[in-house]
Amino acid sequence: MASTKITQLAGRRVWDSRGRPTVEAEVMLSGGATGRAIAPAGASRGMHEAIDLRDGGDDLGGFGVETALDNLADRIAPRLNGMEATDQEDIDLAMIDLDDTDTKSKLGGNTMIAVSMAVLHAAAAAHRLPLWRYLAGDAEVRIPMPEIQIFGGGAHAGGRVDIQDFMAIPIGAESFDEAMEMVAEVYISAGRLMSESGKLAGVADEGGWWPEFDTNEDALDMLVRAIEAADMIPGEDIGISLDIAASEFGKLGRYTLGLEKRELDGGGMVDLLSSWVDRYPIVSIEDPLGEDDPDPFRIFTQRYSDSIQIIGDDFLVTSAERIARAADAGICNSALIKPNQAGTVTETRAALDAARNSGWATVVSARSGETEDVTIAHLAVGWDAGQLKVGSFARSERMAKWNEVLRIEEALGDRAQLAGT
Ligand code: PGA
Ligand code: ZN
Repeated sequence: MASTKITQLAGRRVWDSRGRPTVEAEVMLSGGATGRAIAPAGASRGMHEAIDLRDGGDDLGGFGVETALDNLADRIAPRLNGMEATDQEDIDLAMIDLDDTDTKSKLGGNTMIAVSMAVLHAAAAAHRLPLWRYLAGDAEVRIPMPEIQIFGGGAHAGGRVDIQDFMAIPIGAESFDEAMEMVAEVYISAGRLMSESGKLAGVADEGGWWPEFDTNEDALDMLVRAIEAADMIPGEDIGISLDIAASEFGKLGRYTLGLEKRELDGGGMVDLLSSWVDRYPIVSIEDPLGEDDPDPFRIFTQRYSDSIQIIGDDFLVTSAERIARAADAGICNSALIKPNQAGTVTETRAALDAARNSGWATVVSARSGETEDVTIAHLAVGWDAGQLKVGSFARSERMAKWNEVLRIEEALGDRAQLAGT
């Protein structure tokens, strides 16, 4: 293997799927291998996530990344130069040490995750291995089951409906290739039904159809109809997955459902969601209650933990410590794994391990602000996460990830196995 000391590390400003600036990091190693990665950005962020460092002010809506790029050039690069790229943990610990805050507010979680993932790519390149294979080593891996948005809502659609993601999980698929085809049919049929009912109004931030609905239930009804119209059986071929993202419309146990002009307490939310789980073929619910509302979250988990997947996103923020605490408290049975919530590859992996140690399922996830970067597709396979959430089935920042998994499935050949099948 070529030598793997970091000889150059640089950042540049690139642009994400919302047309906002973001940080790209590029690393060169002594043996000539290079690696590159781009930080994504959330819009419905958990309050305990690593800080997404922005310049503020009037320019670019306050989203500028000059400070982040200065941090990369002036502080991170001098510290990491000469270090071994294959010692990912050392690299990440050096940055954590340099930042020295709980929230990565000095260097920026966006700066750090771009560097951390770029180093990982460079190390894999030096081994002449695709990233997923470098991560897996000799271990068997499975292709992740995708969960794919059909309607976008919440913070990704100007609050047009309260619920953030109405998604399809192709539970009846036997391969990733088949999974893509099944979801493509549902996406097309949902668009056609929206058009026929005069409700077609473009797409939301992650490419799902814009939710021109009068109630949250109307979106669920439409999703069921779209699955049936595509000649598939809801709950058998395609399961419904919801990201409630309840922290976006609920604070301190009060939930304001704008669309239905109702205010609910935590118990009311549990009852509302229970009625949906009982009526619709729902197999997974993310953030059913707010990040600051653990008691009803526990009640909901107790009620449904045996029958559906209950994912924590804002509630857990890809933190090993929060995951372990939630597992002890009986809240959630699955974790969303978002690298930029943690801020480094090492901490992201620790969160995944914490979830796994609790017997939980794990879902590697993109953010609503994305780019052509496909690192998460490799993490989902290489770490054998079991599931992958990338947004919808449109727009190339989403399709780039799905297409990358198709390539990995092809590379695995006969050994490719779709998780959950
Ligand atoms: P994001 O939300 O806008 O913060 O990326 C995605 C999610 O809630 O899963
Ligand atoms: Zn979420």
